[in-house]
Amino acid sequence: TNTLTELKEKIENLKRKRNALILAHNYQLDEVQEVADYVGDSFYLSKVAAEIESDVIVFCGVRFMAETAKILSPDKVVLLPEIDAGCPLADTITAENVRELKSQYPGVPVVCYVNSSVEVKAESDICCTSANAIKVVASLTGTKVIFIPDKNLGDYVAKQLPDKELILWQGCCVTHAKVKPENVTQVRERYPEAKILIHPECIPAVVKLADFVGSTSAIIRYVENSPAEVFVIGTEVGVLCKLKTACPEKQFILLHSGLICPNMKKTRRQSIYDALLNNRYEINVDETVAEKARHTLTLMLELA
Ligand code: 13P
Repeated sequence: TNTLTELKEKIENLKRKRNALILAHNYQLDEVQEVADYVGDSFYLSKVAAEIESDVIVFCGVRFMAETAKILSPDKVVLLPEIDAGCPLADTITAENVRELKSQYPGVPVVCYVNSSVEVKAESDICCTSANAIKVVASLTGTKVIFIPDKNLGDYVAKQLPDKELILWQGCCVTHAKVKPENVTQVRERYPEAKILIHPECIPAVVKLADFVGSTSAIIRYVENSPAEVFVIGTEVGVLCKLKTACPEKQFILLHSGLICPNMKKTRRQSIYDALLNNRYEINVDETVAEKARHTLTLMLELA
């Protein structure tokens, strides 16, 4: 077996040989983030995937992220190092469910959170991520909007845009949903000086108690620009990697010990090496479906 340092060197070599770049989501393990060329939230990584020049993208994240990269960069080889890295939230809704919603609410635009399958994106009008969901929904004409599949993010958006009427799907992220309001009140009592930063995938009763609500990268930016010294992090533990490097003098408390996404944690540094060496697992999407999904993603990228 290789040490992490040996793997880093081997990965560098393979990257040069294959003209590959490594993209990693903020939730990835430190050992993965440390060898990535780009680390960020889902929005940033989709922009990167659309713009970078390389022959190969190794996407360290979950399946829908690699699929998004493939849709936006169809001529590149996109590799997902762990084929079982999925997203239970994305799995809560099918294209058939979206078609049913559309026939139930004819003419109402469908906004689909990027945590969704290619087929679901293809049935939607525009995509969003947690970094731009408010902007995307606000950009639509008319009052009613179908927002899928995350009911917690949808509830948050609805509260920011009281003139809109959101029709929600009942999906949620099981990891973020573990956080309960008591967790926030307890941590507030214990660390009264701390800033509490929450991802909008948390339940509304938790989001309500936050000092700041935002995407993973927005949370990181908030910490970097805040004069405060103690921060409670209400999203997946992976964001601590960047935070500790960027702000070593600041203190971080994870809001709930269960904030670990098992799918995001499947990818190891070894997986990246294996992926580049054996060209696995190549992500391909049917071009007819991809073309429709591309439209919804491009609209989001143009708007945000
Ligand atoms: P962001 O990186 O867009 O904040 O998304 C978090 C998430 O849950 C991705 O699955």
